[in-house]
Amino acid sequence: MATASRTFTRALRSNPIASSLRTAAPRRVVVPRQAFRQQGRRGYASEAPKSSGNALPIAAAVLAAAGVTGYYYLNSNAGTQDSASQGQKGNTIFSPSKKDYQAVYDAIAKRLIDESDYDDGSYGPVLLRLGWHASGTYDKETGTGGSNGATMRFAPEGDHGANAGLKAARDFLEPIRQQFPWITYSDLWTLAAACAIQEMGGPDIPWRPGRQDRDVSFCTPDGRLPDASKAHGHLRDIFGRMGFNDEEIVALSGAHALGRCHTDRSGFEGPWTFSPITLTNDYYKLLLEEKWQWRKWNGPKQYEDKGTKTLMMLPTDMALINDKSFRKTVEKYARDQDAFFHDFSNVLVRLFELGVPFATGEDARITFKRTE
Ligand code: HEM
Repeated sequence: MATASRTFTRALRSNPIASSLRTAAPRRVVVPRQAFRQQGRRGYASEAPKSSGNALPIAAAVLAAAGVTGYYYLNSNAGTQDSASQGQKGNTIFSPSKKDYQAVYDAIAKRLIDESDYDDGSYGPVLLRLGWHASGTYDKETGTGGSNGATMRFAPEGDHGANAGLKAARDFLEPIRQQFPWITYSDLWTLAAACAIQEMGGPDIPWRPGRQDRDVSFCTPDGRLPDASKAHGHLRDIFGRMGFNDEEIVALSGAHALGRCHTDRSGFEGPWTFSPITLTNDYYKLLLEEKWQWRKWNGPKQYEDKGTKTLMMLPTDMALINDKSFRKTVEKYARDQDAFFHDFSNVLVRLFELGVPFATGEDARITFKRTE
Protein backbone atom coordinates (compact mmCIF):
# COMPACT_ATOMS: atom_id res chain seq x y z
CA MET A 1 0.00 0.00 0.00
CA ALA A 2 1.36 3.39 -0.86
CA THR A 3 2.10 5.88 1.86
CA ALA A 4 0.44 8.65 -0.11
CA SER A 5 -2.32 10.10 2.04
CA ARG A 6 -5.80 8.71 1.59
CA THR A 7 -7.84 11.85 1.11
CA PHE A 8 -10.44 10.79 -1.37
CA THR A 9 -12.59 13.89 -1.22
CA ARG A 10 -15.14 12.62 -3.71
CA ALA A 11 -16.73 10.75 -0.83
CA LEU A 12 -17.51 14.09 0.75
CA ARG A 13 -19.56 15.36 -2.17
CA SER A 14 -22.94 14.05 -1.30
CA ASN A 15 -22.84 15.10 2.32
CA PRO A 16 -22.82 18.55 3.82
CA ILE A 17 -20.33 19.91 6.33
CA ALA A 18 -21.35 17.58 9.14
CA SER A 19 -20.26 14.55 7.16
CA SER A 20 -16.88 16.11 6.32
CA LEU A 21 -16.31 16.51 10.02
CA ARG A 22 -17.45 12.97 10.70
CA THR A 23 -15.09 11.44 8.18
CA ALA A 24 -12.02 12.74 9.95
CA ALA A 25 -11.69 10.09 12.61
CA PRO A 26 -12.87 6.59 11.70
CA ARG A 27 -11.33 6.15 8.23
CA ARG A 28 -8.27 8.29 8.92
CA VAL A 29 -9.34 10.51 6.07
CA VAL A 30 -7.41 13.74 5.86
CA VAL A 31 -9.94 16.36 4.87
CA PRO A 32 -8.25 19.13 2.97
CA ARG A 33 -8.92 22.75 3.90
CA GLN A 34 -10.76 23.10 0.61
CA ALA A 35 -13.28 20.41 1.46
CA PHE A 36 -14.49 22.34 4.48
CA ARG A 37 -14.81 25.53 2.54
CA GLN A 38 -16.31 24.06 -0.56
CA GLN A 39 -19.64 22.90 0.64
CA GLY A 40 -22.50 24.32 -1.29
CA ARG A 41 -25.35 23.98 -3.63
CA ARG A 42 -25.21 22.21 -7.00
CA GLY A 43 -24.54 24.52 -9.87
CA TYR A 44 -23.22 23.31 -13.18
CA ALA A 45 -21.72 25.58 -15.77
CA SER A 46 -23.98 27.83 -17.75
CA GLU A 47 -24.46 27.84 -21.50
CA ALA A 48 -21.66 28.80 -23.83
CA PRO A 49 -20.69 32.45 -23.78
CA LYS A 50 -22.54 34.37 -26.43
CA SER A 51 -19.73 36.75 -27.21
CA SER A 52 -16.80 35.08 -28.80
CA GLY A 53 -14.34 37.89 -28.63
CA ASN A 54 -13.12 40.98 -26.95
CA ALA A 55 -13.78 43.66 -29.52
CA LEU A 56 -11.56 46.47 -28.38
CA PRO A 57 -12.59 49.91 -29.42
CA ILE A 58 -10.25 51.86 -31.63
CA ALA A 59 -8.41 53.73 -28.89
CA ALA A 60 -7.53 50.54 -27.06
CA ALA A 61 -6.53 48.86 -30.31
CA VAL A 62 -4.16 51.73 -31.02
CA LEU A 63 -2.66 51.37 -27.55
CA ALA A 64 -2.29 47.64 -28.07
CA ALA A 65 -0.67 48.18 -31.45
CA ALA A 66 1.75 50.56 -29.80
CA GLY A 67 2.77 47.76 -27.46
CA VAL A 68 0.91 49.19 -24.49
CA THR A 69 -0.76 46.32 -22.71
CA GLY A 70 -3.07 46.19 -19.79
CA TYR A 71 -5.22 49.14 -20.81
CA TYR A 72 -8.93 48.96 -21.28
CA TYR A 73 -11.09 51.56 -22.96
CA LEU A 74 -14.22 51.94 -20.88
CA ASN A 75 -17.37 53.00 -22.58
CA SER A 76 -20.97 52.98 -21.51
CA ASN A 77 -21.38 49.40 -22.76
CA ALA A 78 -18.45 48.08 -20.84
CA GLY A 79 -20.55 46.39 -18.19
CA THR A 80 -20.31 46.59 -14.44
CA GLN A 81 -17.04 47.36 -12.71
CA ASP A 82 -16.53 46.59 -9.08
CA SER A 83 -12.83 47.21 -8.99
CA ALA A 84 -10.79 50.37 -8.76
CA SER A 85 -12.44 51.54 -11.92
CA GLN A 86 -15.83 51.77 -10.29
CA GLY A 87 -17.57 54.96 -11.19
CA GLN A 88 -15.43 55.49 -14.25
CA LYS A 89 -18.15 55.47 -16.81
CA GLY A 90 -18.02 57.21 -20.12
CA ASN A 91 -15.00 57.31 -22.38
CA THR A 92 -12.10 56.68 -20.05
CA ILE A 93 -8.84 54.83 -20.54
CA PHE A 94 -8.56 52.37 -17.68
CA SER A 95 -5.20 51.00 -16.71
CA PRO A 96 -5.63 48.05 -14.32
CA SER A 97 -3.31 47.96 -11.32
CA LYS A 98 -2.10 44.98 -9.30
CA LYS A 99 -5.04 45.64 -6.99
CA ASP A 100 -7.46 45.16 -9.88
CA TYR A 101 -5.89 41.82 -10.85
CA GLN A 102 -6.04 40.75 -7.19
CA ALA A 103 -9.76 41.60 -7.29
CA VAL A 104 -10.14 39.24 -10.27
CA TYR A 105 -8.23 36.56 -8.35
CA ASP A 106 -10.48 37.05 -5.31
CA ALA A 107 -13.64 36.79 -7.44
CA ILE A 108 -12.44 33.51 -9.00
CA ALA A 109 -11.46 32.12 -5.59
CA LYS A 110 -14.88 33.03 -4.21
CA ARG A 111 -16.64 31.41 -7.16
CA LEU A 112 -14.57 28.25 -6.63
CA ILE A 113 -16.00 28.05 -3.14
CA ASP A 114 -19.56 28.98 -4.13
CA GLU A 115 -19.72 26.45 -7.01
CA SER A 116 -18.41 23.52 -5.02
CA ASP A 117 -20.90 20.90 -6.12
CA TYR A 118 -18.98 19.91 -9.20
CA ASP A 119 -16.88 16.78 -9.75
CA ASP A 120 -14.81 16.25 -6.61
CA GLY A 121 -15.87 19.55 -5.07
CA SER A 122 -14.06 22.12 -7.17
CA TYR A 123 -13.71 23.58 -10.64
CA GLY A 124 -10.03 24.12 -9.75
CA PRO A 125 -8.64 21.17 -11.76
CA VAL A 126 -10.55 21.99 -14.93
CA LEU A 127 -9.47 25.65 -14.68
CA LEU A 128 -5.85 24.49 -14.53
CA ARG A 129 -6.45 22.25 -17.54
CA LEU A 130 -7.89 25.24 -19.44
CA GLY A 131 -4.81 27.37 -18.70
CA TRP A 132 -2.52 24.51 -19.71
CA HIS A 133 -4.33 23.69 -22.97
CA ALA A 134 -4.40 27.37 -23.94
CA SER A 135 -0.64 27.62 -23.33
CA GLY A 136 0.49 24.16 -24.46
CA THR A 137 -0.14 24.82 -28.16
CA TYR A 138 3.04 26.89 -28.30
CA ASP A 139 5.58 26.07 -31.01
CA LYS A 140 9.00 27.57 -30.38
CA GLU A 141 10.08 27.23 -34.04
CA THR A 142 7.25 29.31 -35.49
CA GLY A 143 6.37 31.32 -32.37
CA THR A 144 2.73 30.38 -32.91
CA GLY A 145 0.22 29.21 -30.31
CA GLY A 146 0.44 29.75 -26.58
CA SER A 147 -1.89 31.53 -24.20
CA ASN A 148 -1.80 34.83 -26.10
CA GLY A 149 -5.02 34.96 -28.11
CA ALA A 150 -7.45 32.67 -26.23
CA THR A 151 -8.23 31.13 -29.60
CA MET A 152 -9.91 28.14 -27.96
CA ARG A 153 -13.01 30.39 -27.85
CA PHE A 154 -13.44 29.57 -31.53
CA ALA A 155 -14.84 26.37 -32.99
CA PRO A 156 -11.84 24.92 -34.77
CA GLU A 157 -9.67 24.90 -31.66
CA GLY A 158 -12.45 24.53 -29.08
CA ASP A 159 -13.56 21.40 -30.95
CA HIS A 160 -10.15 19.72 -30.95
CA GLY A 161 -10.51 16.34 -29.22
CA ALA A 162 -7.92 17.29 -26.59
CA ASN A 163 -10.05 20.24 -25.53
CA ALA A 164 -13.21 18.23 -24.86
CA GLY A 165 -14.84 19.32 -21.61
CA LEU A 166 -13.06 22.65 -21.31
CA LYS A 167 -16.29 24.48 -22.04
CA ALA A 168 -17.12 23.85 -18.37
CA ALA A 169 -14.10 25.94 -17.38
CA ARG A 170 -14.76 28.67 -19.95
CA ASP A 171 -18.39 28.91 -18.82
CA PHE A 172 -17.33 29.02 -15.17
CA LEU A 173 -15.22 32.07 -15.96
CA GLU A 174 -17.80 33.93 -18.05
CA PRO A 175 -19.46 35.72 -15.09
CA ILE A 176 -15.99 36.80 -13.95
CA ARG A 177 -15.29 38.22 -17.41
CA GLN A 178 -18.58 40.12 -17.24
CA GLN A 179 -17.66 41.49 -13.83
CA PHE A 180 -14.24 42.61 -15.07
CA PRO A 181 -14.77 43.36 -18.78
CA TRP A 182 -11.39 45.07 -19.06
CA ILE A 183 -9.46 41.79 -18.72
CA THR A 184 -8.72 39.79 -21.87
CA TYR A 185 -9.88 36.19 -22.00
CA SER A 186 -6.28 35.10 -22.49
CA ASP A 187 -5.15 36.90 -19.33
CA LEU A 188 -8.21 35.64 -17.47
CA TRP A 189 -7.65 31.98 -18.34
CA THR A 190 -4.04 31.92 -17.17
CA LEU A 191 -4.80 34.01 -14.09
CA ALA A 192 -7.60 31.57 -13.23
CA ALA A 193 -5.22 28.62 -13.58
CA ALA A 194 -2.70 30.30 -11.27
CA CYS A 195 -5.52 31.03 -8.82
CA ALA A 196 -6.75 27.42 -8.98
CA ILE A 197 -3.30 26.05 -8.13
CA GLN A 198 -2.87 28.40 -5.18
CA GLU A 199 -6.40 27.80 -3.87
CA MET A 200 -5.89 24.03 -4.09
CA GLY A 201 -2.92 24.31 -1.74
CA GLY A 202 -0.19 24.52 -4.38
CA PRO A 203 2.76 26.91 -4.53
CA ASP A 204 2.54 30.58 -5.48
CA ILE A 205 2.37 31.04 -9.25
CA PRO A 206 3.58 34.57 -10.02
CA TRP A 207 1.63 35.89 -13.00
CA ARG A 208 1.75 38.97 -15.23
CA PRO A 209 -0.81 40.50 -17.57
CA GLY A 210 -0.21 41.42 -21.19
CA ARG A 211 -2.03 38.90 -23.38
CA GLN A 212 -4.29 40.16 -26.15
CA ASP A 213 -7.26 38.22 -27.50
CA ARG A 214 -6.92 37.33 -31.16
CA ASP A 215 -9.31 36.31 -33.90
CA VAL A 216 -10.14 32.91 -35.33
CA SER A 217 -7.31 33.06 -37.86
CA PHE A 218 -4.84 32.49 -35.00
CA CYS A 219 -6.33 29.09 -34.04
CA THR A 220 -3.61 26.45 -33.89
CA PRO A 221 -3.81 23.19 -35.87
CA ASP A 222 -5.04 20.06 -34.11
CA GLY A 223 -2.42 17.72 -32.67
CA ARG A 224 -0.25 20.10 -30.65
CA LEU A 225 -1.36 18.76 -27.26
CA PRO A 226 -0.23 15.37 -25.92
CA ASP A 227 -1.98 12.11 -26.75
CA ALA A 228 -2.46 10.10 -23.55
CA SER A 229 -2.19 6.75 -25.30
CA LYS A 230 1.43 7.33 -26.36
CA ALA A 231 4.84 6.85 -24.71
CA HIS A 232 7.97 8.75 -23.70
CA GLY A 233 9.09 9.65 -27.25
CA HIS A 234 5.80 11.43 -27.87
CA LEU A 235 6.11 13.37 -24.60
CA ARG A 236 9.59 14.58 -25.58
CA ASP A 237 8.32 15.61 -29.04
CA ILE A 238 5.30 17.52 -27.73
CA PHE A 239 6.96 19.23 -24.77
CA GLY A 240 10.24 19.71 -26.63
CA ARG A 241 8.29 21.74 -29.20
CA MET A 242 7.31 24.07 -26.34
CA GLY A 243 10.93 24.19 -25.12
CA PHE A 244 10.72 21.92 -22.05
CA ASN A 245 13.32 19.30 -21.03
CA ASP A 246 12.90 15.92 -19.27
CA GLU A 247 12.86 17.33 -15.71
CA GLU A 248 10.34 19.97 -16.70
CA ILE A 249 8.06 17.37 -18.34
CA VAL A 250 8.00 15.43 -15.08
CA ALA A 251 7.36 18.57 -13.01
CA LEU A 252 4.48 19.61 -15.29
CA SER A 253 2.94 16.14 -15.11
CA GLY A 254 2.59 16.48 -11.32
CA ALA A 255 -0.56 18.47 -12.13
CA HIS A 256 -2.23 15.08 -12.44
CA ALA A 257 -2.32 14.97 -8.65
CA LEU A 258 -5.39 17.08 -9.38
CA GLY A 259 -8.67 16.31 -11.06
CA ARG A 260 -9.87 13.28 -12.94
CA CYS A 261 -10.57 11.81 -16.34
CA HIS A 262 -14.14 11.76 -17.66
CA THR A 263 -15.55 9.16 -20.06
CA ASP A 264 -17.56 11.86 -21.85
CA ARG A 265 -14.46 14.03 -22.39
CA SER A 266 -11.28 12.05 -23.01
CA GLY A 267 -12.85 8.58 -22.75
CA PHE A 268 -10.59 7.72 -19.80
CA GLU A 269 -12.03 7.45 -16.31
CA GLY A 270 -11.04 8.23 -12.73
CA PRO A 271 -8.72 10.30 -10.57
CA TRP A 272 -4.97 9.87 -10.20
CA THR A 273 -4.89 10.46 -6.44
CA PHE A 274 -7.12 10.25 -3.38
CA SER A 275 -7.05 14.04 -2.96
CA PRO A 276 -7.98 15.37 -6.41
CA ILE A 277 -8.67 18.92 -5.25
CA THR A 278 -5.53 19.39 -3.15
CA LEU A 279 -2.11 19.64 -4.77
CA THR A 280 0.42 17.22 -3.25
CA ASN A 281 3.30 15.10 -4.54
CA ASP A 282 1.07 11.99 -4.21
CA TYR A 283 1.01 11.52 -7.98
CA TYR A 284 4.71 10.63 -7.90
CA LYS A 285 4.43 8.54 -4.72
CA LEU A 286 1.52 6.55 -6.11
CA LEU A 287 3.28 6.01 -9.44
CA LEU A 288 6.21 4.42 -7.62
CA GLU A 289 4.57 2.71 -4.68
CA GLU A 290 1.32 1.29 -6.02
CA LYS A 291 1.10 -1.77 -8.21
CA TRP A 292 -0.46 -0.81 -11.52
CA GLN A 293 -2.28 -3.15 -13.90
CA TRP A 294 -4.22 -2.68 -17.13
CA ARG A 295 -7.86 -2.00 -16.38
CA LYS A 296 -10.17 -4.53 -17.98
CA TRP A 297 -13.00 -2.50 -19.36
CA ASN A 298 -14.71 -1.36 -22.49
CA GLY A 299 -12.71 1.85 -22.80
CA PRO A 300 -9.31 3.17 -23.87
CA LYS A 301 -6.23 1.45 -22.44
CA GLN A 302 -5.52 2.80 -18.96
CA TYR A 303 -4.04 1.51 -15.74
CA GLU A 304 -5.75 0.95 -12.40
CA ASP A 305 -4.18 0.49 -8.97
CA LYS A 306 -4.23 -3.14 -7.90
CA GLY A 307 -5.12 -2.29 -4.30
CA THR A 308 -8.33 -0.27 -4.57
CA LYS A 309 -9.02 -0.18 -8.32
CA THR A 310 -10.26 3.38 -7.82
CA LEU A 311 -7.21 5.25 -9.11
CA MET A 312 -5.94 5.46 -12.65
CA MET A 313 -2.82 6.22 -14.68
CA LEU A 314 -2.65 7.05 -18.37
CA PRO A 315 -0.09 5.34 -20.61
CA THR A 316 1.77 8.70 -20.70
CA ASP A 317 1.83 8.79 -16.88
CA MET A 318 3.38 5.31 -16.75
CA ALA A 319 5.96 6.43 -19.31
CA LEU A 320 7.41 8.60 -16.56
CA ILE A 321 8.51 5.56 -14.54
CA ASN A 322 9.41 3.35 -17.50
CA ASP A 323 11.96 5.80 -18.86
CA LYS A 324 15.22 6.03 -16.87
CA SER A 325 15.69 9.76 -17.21
CA PHE A 326 12.09 10.64 -16.34
CA ARG A 327 12.08 8.17 -13.44
CA LYS A 328 15.00 9.89 -11.70
CA THR A 329 12.93 13.07 -11.40
CA VAL A 330 9.78 11.15 -10.38
CA GLU A 331 11.82 9.65 -7.51
CA LYS A 332 13.10 13.07 -6.49
CA TYR A 333 9.60 14.59 -6.32
CA ALA A 334 8.17 11.54 -4.51
CA ARG A 335 10.80 12.11 -1.80
CA ASP A 336 10.55 15.86 -1.60
CA GLN A 337 7.30 17.78 -1.99
CA ASP A 338 9.06 21.13 -1.48
CA ALA A 339 11.32 20.42 -4.45
CA PHE A 340 8.26 19.54 -6.54
CA PHE A 341 6.39 22.71 -5.51
CA HIS A 342 9.45 24.85 -6.26
CA ASP A 343 9.98 23.39 -9.73
CA PHE A 344 6.26 23.18 -10.48
CA SER A 345 5.88 26.90 -9.82
CA ASN A 346 8.82 27.82 -12.07
CA VAL A 347 7.68 25.61 -14.92
CA LEU A 348 4.04 26.78 -14.72
CA VAL A 349 5.13 30.43 -14.84
CA ARG A 350 7.06 29.62 -18.02
CA LEU A 351 4.22 27.59 -19.53
CA PHE A 352 1.69 30.39 -19.04
CA GLU A 353 4.07 32.94 -20.60
CA LEU A 354 5.08 30.95 -23.71
CA GLY A 355 4.85 33.13 -26.81
CA VAL A 356 3.36 36.15 -25.04
CA PRO A 357 4.81 39.44 -26.32
CA PHE A 358 4.93 41.16 -22.95
CA ALA A 359 5.64 44.89 -22.92
CA THR A 360 6.72 44.47 -19.28
CA GLY A 361 9.63 42.67 -17.62
CA GLU A 362 9.57 39.76 -15.21
CA ASP A 363 9.44 42.26 -12.33
CA ALA A 364 5.84 42.99 -13.38
CA ARG A 365 4.81 39.54 -12.15
CA ILE A 366 2.22 39.60 -9.39
CA THR A 367 2.20 37.11 -6.53
CA PHE A 368 -1.44 36.94 -5.58
CA LYS A 369 -2.54 36.88 -1.99
CA ARG A 370 -4.41 33.61 -1.54
CA THR A 371 -7.72 33.20 0.28
CA GLU A 372 -7.24 32.56 4.02
C1 HEM B 1 1.96 14.74 -20.14
C2 HEM B 1 1.02 14.83 -21.05
C3 HEM B 1 -0.42 14.95 -20.67
C4 HEM B 1 -1.43 14.16 -21.10
C5 HEM B 1 -1.31 13.02 -22.10
C6 HEM B 1 -2.62 14.57 -20.42
C7 HEM B 1 -3.85 14.00 -20.59
C8 HEM B 1 -4.96 14.28 -19.82
C9 HEM B 1 -6.24 13.63 -19.95
C10 HEM B 1 -6.57 12.52 -20.93
C11 HEM B 1 -7.05 14.16 -19.02
C12 HEM B 1 -8.51 13.79 -18.74
C13 HEM B 1 -9.46 14.82 -19.35
C14 HEM B 1 -10.89 14.50 -19.01
O1 HEM B 1 -11.34 13.39 -19.39
O2 HEM B 1 -11.57 15.32 -18.37
C15 HEM B 1 -6.31 15.15 -18.30
C16 HEM B 1 -6.79 15.88 -17.25
C17 HEM B 1 -6.08 16.84 -16.59
N1 HEM B 1 -4.83 17.31 -16.93
FE1 HEM B 1 -3.57 16.45 -18.22
N2 HEM B 1 -2.33 15.63 -19.62
C18 HEM B 1 -0.99 15.90 -19.73
C19 HEM B 1 -0.30 16.92 -19.13
C20 HEM B 1 -0.86 17.84 -18.27
C21 HEM B 1 -0.21 19.04 -17.80
C22 HEM B 1 1.18 19.51 -18.24
C23 HEM B 1 -1.08 19.66 -16.96
C24 HEM B 1 -0.93 20.95 -16.21
C25 HEM B 1 0.22 21.56 -15.97
C26 HEM B 1 -2.27 18.84 -16.88
C27 HEM B 1 -3.36 19.09 -16.10
C28 HEM B 1 -4.51 18.31 -16.07
C29 HEM B 1 -5.57 18.48 -15.08
C30 HEM B 1 -5.58 19.44 -13.91
C31 HEM B 1 -6.55 17.55 -15.43
C32 HEM B 1 -7.88 17.28 -14.69
C33 HEM B 1 -9.00 18.03 -15.35
C34 HEM B 1 -10.34 17.79 -14.67
O3 HEM B 1 -10.40 17.26 -13.58
O4 HEM B 1 -11.35 18.16 -15.29
N3 HEM B 1 -2.11 17.77 -17.71
N4 HEM B 1 -5.04 15.20 -18.81
